[in-house]
Amino acid sequence: MDIDAISAVRLEMLEARGIRRELSPTERLADGRVLRGGQPMVSFCDNDYLGLTSHPSVIEAAVGATRKYGAGAGAARLVTGDNPLNEQLEARLAKLKGLPAARVFGSGYLANAGAIPALVGAGDLIVMDELCHASMHAGARLSGARIQTFAHNNVTSAAHYLQQRDATSHALLLTETVFSMDGDLAPLEQLAEVAGQTGAWMMTDDAHGFGVITQDNPAPVQMGTLSKAAGAYGGYVAGPASFIDLLTSRARTFVYATGLPPGVLAAALAALDVMEAEPGLGARALANARLFGSLIGHASIESAIVPVRYGEADAAMRASAALAEQGFLVTAIRPPTVPEGAARLRFTFTSNHREADIRRLAALVLKTLGDAGAAK
Ligand SMILES: Cc1ncc(COP(=O)(O)O)c(C=O)c1O
Repeated sequence: MDIDAISAVRLEMLEARGIRRELSPTERLADGRVLRGGQPMVSFCDNDYLGLTSHPSVIEAAVGATRKYGAGAGAARLVTGDNPLNEQLEARLAKLKGLPAARVFGSGYLANAGAIPALVGAGDLIVMDELCHASMHAGARLSGARIQTFAHNNVTSAAHYLQQRDATSHALLLTETVFSMDGDLAPLEQLAEVAGQTGAWMMTDDAHGFGVITQDNPAPVQMGTLSKAAGAYGGYVAGPASFIDLLTSRARTFVYATGLPPGVLAAALAALDVMEAEPGLGARALANARLFGSLIGHASIESAIVPVRYGEADAAMRASAALAEQGFLVTAIRPPTVPEGAARLRFTFTSNHREADIRRLAALVLKTLGDAGAAK
């Protein structure tokens, strides 16, 4: 069979399982709405938590740097792609994180895929939360270390696996600060305690916390992305100075990838300025999520992400379609992104959402849940 024929068979198999993915061209408009298929909709599923992708000063910064330096970096940072904006951004990120240094990567995915193998390798142990993002799993696999996943947020289970470590090798504990699909928080202090007791290192993924919620985070290595609350693109790793320096030589996704475009770097820097000037934006996104949670009977909302479970993938797809008909864009999250039987709508809230929209959305969601229950 040739590539096209076997791919068609594989696509049919995905289709049969209800997990074939398809693209939907979407124009995001400056006022926070989106156009999909020509239809204006209010999005409740992007990660632009602070509305900074369309903030005037963020856009101006991107345009200005693009005019000055060009559209692309032109090369890897180790060649000629190290525009001085990189260093400025890294200094700001390290300060924000309260860690000695930071290195910017092409994306959050690349940051995880590059930093984890720079920390541990063959013969070492990685103990990671089962719900860690795909990019952490990718980094873990690339490292060649033995991987043990622990039950979500279960500190006892994490401790159990860490205690089995070989004392002569390194062990690394991985978790997210805010879980991307569930919106709950990791027990960072407790996890750091077991890491400390077992001599393990700890690294966190703050992709969905950054700019929205501030937690005390004792992890010595912290990564995040500039593509969500910061409204731009790129990823970063912050940590001890020598480790960050080591990434420059050893993180393959840093060494062998082109630097970020200057416009993107400038946008991220401007976004950090806005976050500093308007510290209430994150709290507003969180308050919007909490309002929605209270209206649909979800009491403990800890972040700007509120999952609503429908079980099977087709039930979640039907609910998404029903909301779309009423002008709300909320994509269904299906396996393999989430476990089988745990398909959901993942609602995300931003500082720009309006109360009237949130109230109307909540009423519709309650109806879709009723319909899904009736269909069972
Ligand atoms: C938890 C988590 N980590 C890492 C990433 C990857 O970040 P980026 O989109 O910048 O590659 C994402 C983005 O989807 C994420 O949700």
